[in-house]
Amino acid sequence: NKIIGIMGAIPEEINGVVSLLTDKQEHRIGKRTYYTGLLNNQNVVVVYSRIGKVAAATTVSTLILEFKITELIFTGVAGGIDSSLKIGDIVLGQSLIQHDMNAQPLFPAYEIPLLGKAYFDADTDKLELAKTAILELLEQQHLHQVISDKDLNKFNIHQPQLHVGLIGSGDLFFSTNTQKEKLQANIKNVLCVEMEGAAVAQVCYEFGIPFIIIRTISDQADDHSTIDFQSFIEKISNVYSIEIIKNIIK
Ligand code: ADE
Repeated sequence: NKIIGIMGAIPEEINGVVSLLTDKQEHRIGKRTYYTGLLNNQNVVVVYSRIGKVAAATTVSTLILEFKITELIFTGVAGGIDSSLKIGDIVLGQSLIQHDMNAQPLFPAYEIPLLGKAYFDADTDKLELAKTAILELLEQQHLHQVISDKDLNKFNIHQPQLHVGLIGSGDLFFSTNTQKEKLQANIKNVLCVEMEGAAVAQVCYEFGIPFIIIRTISDQADDHSTIDFQSFIEKISNVYSIEIIKNIIK
């Protein structure tokens, strides 16, 4: 029997999804609140982990061991690294890497020591499903209809695009051009950065749980990245998350 875990890092990223649940119940474990319930007649567990790799990894472990989830969807925001990404674009993680893992000279850079892996891949079938669901929303311009023109203008969002590729995760909020350039020099083809995805991906890999990571670009991971971050999450990414998750679970 399917039980889908739905995770975000901060309350604003999952509140909208929690409000859609029927037969909702709250469970407090390890300073986190897990909401169980039904979404479209499908058993789900929704939780926010707080920010960072440790917070995310322990939360996923609890979802797997206590709530017996069989698959996982993570949604949230990310800073754009590749120059093709615009604010408001959506990134589906095909593969995830922990950009702050470096046990050289004992192990190659970015490889998780003793696991022999640096890249963790999302589930191919669920990635395709999510891709179809997101492209459908983008083609119908549905995401435009659920956000006011004022907010779309404020964040300069015109035609959001879907990108599928590599996401870099680490315990670092990118807020300078120098941090961004260093990452670009060290790891090729990173589309965007965030602070949980690759930790979630590692735990899911270790337990054999298929996962997908969906991110909305909130900033360009540079000197301007803190501008209106909070307002972006409330007005844009939270609304995107609800629509995307509804369309995937349907
Ligand atoms: N999530 C959203 N923006 C980010 C940034 N600039 N750095 C790390 N994580 C982020």
